[in-house]
Amino acid sequence: MKPSEIESTRLLALLAEGRALLGVDTDARIDLRVLVEHYTGLTRTQQLMDADYPVTSEVAECVRAALQRRAQGEPVAYITGQRSFWRHEFLVTPATLIPRPETEHLVEWALEKIPQNLCCTVVDLGTGSGVIALSLAFERPQVLVLGCDFSATALNVAQANQSRILSMKSRNLCWIRGSWAQMIAPQSVDMIVSNPPYICADDPHLSQGDVRFEPISALVAGEAGLDDYRLIINQAQYALKLGGWLLFEHGHAQAELVQDLLDQAGFVAIETRQDLAGHPRNTIGQKPESI
Ligand SMILES: C[S@@+](CC[C@H](N)C(=O)[O-])C[C@H]1O[C@@H](n2cnc3c(N)ncnc32)[C@H](O)[C@@H]1O
Repeated sequence: MKPSEIESTRLLALLAEGRALLGVDTDARIDLRVLVEHYTGLTRTQQLMDADYPVTSEVAECVRAALQRRAQGEPVAYITGQRSFWRHEFLVTPATLIPRPETEHLVEWALEKIPQNLCCTVVDLGTGSGVIALSLAFERPQVLVLGCDFSATALNVAQANQSRILSMKSRNLCWIRGSWAQMIAPQSVDMIVSNPPYICADDPHLSQGDVRFEPISALVAGEAGLDDYRLIINQAQYALKLGGWLLFEHGHAQAELVQDLLDQAGFVAIETRQDLAGHPRNTIGQKPESI
């Protein structure tokens, strides 16, 4: 008998324990498969094919502990410590927002605006785990990317992601600690991208689901959720070069409000795009070429 078979739990039994704890709806099943994959190394296909796989008691205990945490509402990404975004698997901790798939649209739109050979400077305001900054730096090695956040703990996570994904030696990515664009020299950057906090302070969703575990400073922006757009737009007017672009992610009911703020600040070529669910999710504006 192999040592792994002496004290082990069959995968089938472990999955059954998981279903009993988490439930059987689609989301719960996905969570279960992801947690089991994380601790056993078995892909979701392997889990389906090899129900008799012997999971060592040590690993089974790790899975059980993770299932308990999930049953108490903790997000899967904080349990596994990672979440995939764009082309990579990123470290995330409770100090950082869990990256959302919608935010990939912001990366996509930014890349459209940066031709392959254009050398320019891009700032990601409120970088968190660094997903936007790192994805842009990875796709456009000729571009200088600055990831800014006021949270030192979040920036530590972003740096750890840099060493996993690019390398600390990569010359086209730096991190700055500070409030929005205050640290950026006037007329020095070609593009600002930002997924700032945009939830209203009294939004009932804040007490539901995964967001209960995320940092409030990454989520809430005043009574109407617009405070940080105002600050960023105001500061971006100075930080951007003439003709520079400002790209935002926002809540699905905020497109017109963000458009108005950009318009009032003198931005031109204002445009909004929808996410895959058909919600207006990103709005961009350009600082005029001449004043
Ligand atoms: C919605 S999260 C976005 C994180 C990441 N960019 C993403 O898309 O997953 C907003 C981020 O803004 C940061 N933040 C909040 N207020 C800030 C400020 N005044 N200056 C800089 N960053 C700020 C938070 O720490 C958080 O990391």
